[in-house]
Amino acid sequence: MNAITVVDENWAIGKDGGLLAHLPGDLKYYKEKTLGNVIVVGRKTLESFPGGKPLPGRTNIVLTANPHFEAERCIVCRSKDEVLAKLQAFDGQEVFIAGGAAVYQQFLDDCDAFYVTKIDAGFAADRYFPNLDALGYQVRWESPAQEENGIRYRFLKYRRP
Ligand SMILES: NC(=O)c1ccc[n+]([C@@H]2O[C@H](COP(=O)([O-])OP(=O)(O)OC[C@H]3O[C@@H](n4cnc5c(N)ncnc54)[C@H](OP(=O)(O)O)[C@@H]3O)[C@@H](O)[C@H]2O)c1
Repeated sequence: MNAITVVDENWAIGKDGGLLAHLPGDLKYYKEKTLGNVIVVGRKTLESFPGGKPLPGRTNIVLTANPHFEAERCIVCRSKDEVLAKLQAFDGQEVFIAGGAAVYQQFLDDCDAFYVTKIDAGFAADRYFPNLDALGYQVRWESPAQEENGIRYRFLKYRRP
């Protein structure tokens, strides 16, 4: 299982229900990695997608504790165990834990590979990804620096220690 995220230099991922920066190159990278595969998101992250709709061309699994919650073109799960059970039907497809903070934290130990886009700047934020550097995770691959809208960032791939 994989996780995919974009973080700032403090491992922040979001503020006020949205992302920290608009990086078209990162959105393209995210699409390349996840298209045709499975993403697992929390209910709040689903609501942050354009129009509050699932991302097209991917299986969208959404976590909520609300028994009445329904979302078109999504598989709705009420617990982590239900997600893990549903994922058995997608053997052969890549699975990406795709946020937000609550979901990344719960699935951290289930992931082997972490696709981390790291921004070389700090933003005001209210949601964070676990600090993989502090946890001793290893960078296995790193792209050259990119720059968009005056923001420098790199694509990194981490593995668990
Ligand atoms: N930078 C990035 O890569 C990235 C990626 C994704 C999201 N984000 C940002 O992160 C923020 C949203 O993240 P968040 O942490 O606030 O929310 P979230 O993780 O997207 O959603 C939290 C909700 O998920 C449901 N949930 C989580 N675990 C559950 C479980 N075990 N069982 C049942 N339901 C569960 C609950 O929904 P109910 O309340 O409905 O019960 C919970 O309130 C936004 O700012 C977004 O832009 C950033």
